[in-house]
Amino acid sequence: MESSKAVLGVLISGRGSNMKSIVEACESDDIPARVGIVISNRGDAPGIGWAAGHGLDTAVISHRDFESREAHDRAVVGKLRAAGVDWVCLAGYMRLLSAEFVQAFPRRILNIHPALLPAFPGLDAQQQALDYGVRVTGCTVHLVDEKLDHGPIVAQRSLKIRDDESVEGLKSRLIIEEHRCYVEALSRILEEQWDVQGRRVIFEKRISAARRPH
Ligand code: GRF
Repeated sequence: MESSKAVLGVLISGRGSNMKSIVEACESDDIPARVGIVISNRGDAPGIGWAAGHGLDTAVISHRDFESREAHDRAVVGKLRAAGVDWVCLAGYMRLLSAEFVQAFPRRILNIHPALLPAFPGLDAQQQALDYGVRVTGCTVHLVDEKLDHGPIVAQRSLKIRDDESVEGLKSRLIIEEHRCYVEALSRILEEQWDVQGRRVIFEKRISAARRPH
């Protein structure tokens, strides 16, 4: 039933391929959710055009129009609330969230990072992995807290690095794993019972459809 689905707000800054894959997973019922709004902090983000063309509600809220991170975040949170968003998915959103933003959606913000955290946080994670010479890298979906690429981990997928791997080659192989990882994380977090113990996200048994609260 449409009304029992979780409402996702997806934040992007660029291409938006993770956002697109989340939208498609919602449409094919791979995750029990719908995308209520896609917000970009950049008007020229290609993903925002795709989302609008796909019939989704969209908004561009440029950080340049605000005096502080907090003021920009307040505008974004206001827009998410107006769209009835339950869960916020950061998908290539190139902004650190203020504490106020994180506290507005406690344990309800997810981010994807293109490395196996805690390795290689921050920018250019694929290049960092190649430069370090690791043989295996991957991607991580985690709950967002006030620190960069830091919150409890929900899902990870790994990928072996090839001897002749270029950064572009690695990015293009990894993005496929990212799409799978985000959908897997959302599916688990929305369909299973879970709790955070210390840094660990502990999943309990899948709730059967009959027992699932409505
Ligand atoms: C992805 O690699 C994601 O992990 C990182 O930024 C990139 C965004 O790609 N945070 P896209 O916009 O989802 O295509």
